[in-house]
Amino acid sequence: MGNNLLKALIRTESLSKYYGKGGEIKAVDELNLEVYEGETFGLLGPNGAGKTTTVRLLNCIIKPTNGTAIVNDLDILKDETEVKRITGLLAESPGLYEKLSAQEFLEFMGALYDVPPKILHGRIEDLLKLFSLYDRRDHLLEGYSRGMKQKILIAAAIIHDPPILFLDEPTSMLDPRAALMVKDLIKTLADKAGKTIFICSHILPIVEELCDRIGIISQGRLIALGTIAEIIAQTGTKTLEDAFIAITGGVQEKELLAWREQKAVGS
Ligand SMILES: Nc1ncnc2c1ncn2[C@@H]1O[C@H](COP(=O)(O)OP(=O)(O)OP(=O)(O)O)[C@@H](O)[C@H]1O
Ligand SMILES: [Mg+2]
Repeated sequence: MGNNLLKALIRTESLSKYYGKGGEIKAVDELNLEVYEGETFGLLGPNGAGKTTTVRLLNCIIKPTNGTAIVNDLDILKDETEVKRITGLLAESPGLYEKLSAQEFLEFMGALYDVPPKILHGRIEDLLKLFSLYDRRDHLLEGYSRGMKQKILIAAAIIHDPPILFLDEPTSMLDPRAALMVKDLIKTLADKAGKTIFICSHILPIVEELCDRIGIISQGRLIALGTIAEIIAQTGTKTLEDAFIAITGGVQEKELLAWREQKAVGS
């Protein structure tokens, strides 16, 4: 991965999102990165770093303050509807209709995405079989375990067969067994279905196993980009965990100092 012949399916161009009255909260700040066709890309960073905001920008859920991004030759500022058609999103805290069965929920989501009924039926059957939930398809989602719900949400995210799939913390809140199940599923989608996958996570073993390349973001800024081996080499560390702490640790120290300065000013 990472060679010039690969097509950049996602390219952010100084992508920025600021919050607060004077834009003082720089959730995403001048982000420039590329994700290549067919790869699994991981965006890592501490809590509040800007991962979810980046994903929401790339899925046209929110609009950037500055900059833009190109997703499969489409501009997120101009081609919102088309971008939504070619992307699937597993959100950080998605809603699920507990009173529907898995079959009904997927039919509903397919209709939302204008999947023709003829195609939709076969696709739902394929997905339920792939996710080992076919036998439970007529049971209400309220009776599903967390891992099963997560699988249904991933199925819903790809019901319109998008080439690009965004997964925001796909395994957090899952027990190790369910996490393993979801991880295998993501692997299948990347390897067998040929999807380009963009994952946000801070669960490093999952990132290590799934991702071809990663970016590390802190306080809205991209502070490292490359393969895991490259990032480990750059930091002179031995593991991704040590590299992550080495890269993001410096910023945390500064944060701490800023807090002490503020306190000094305030007192
Ligand atoms: N709607 C909003 N209004 C105000 N501030 C926001 C909003 N959305 C995000 N932020 C701020 O932007 C920053 C980045 O948040 P974001 O949710 O993107 O982080 P994250 O990397 O996904 O964190 P986590 O690992 O905790 O999920 C945070 O400081 C957050 O408080
Ligand atoms: Mg988040």
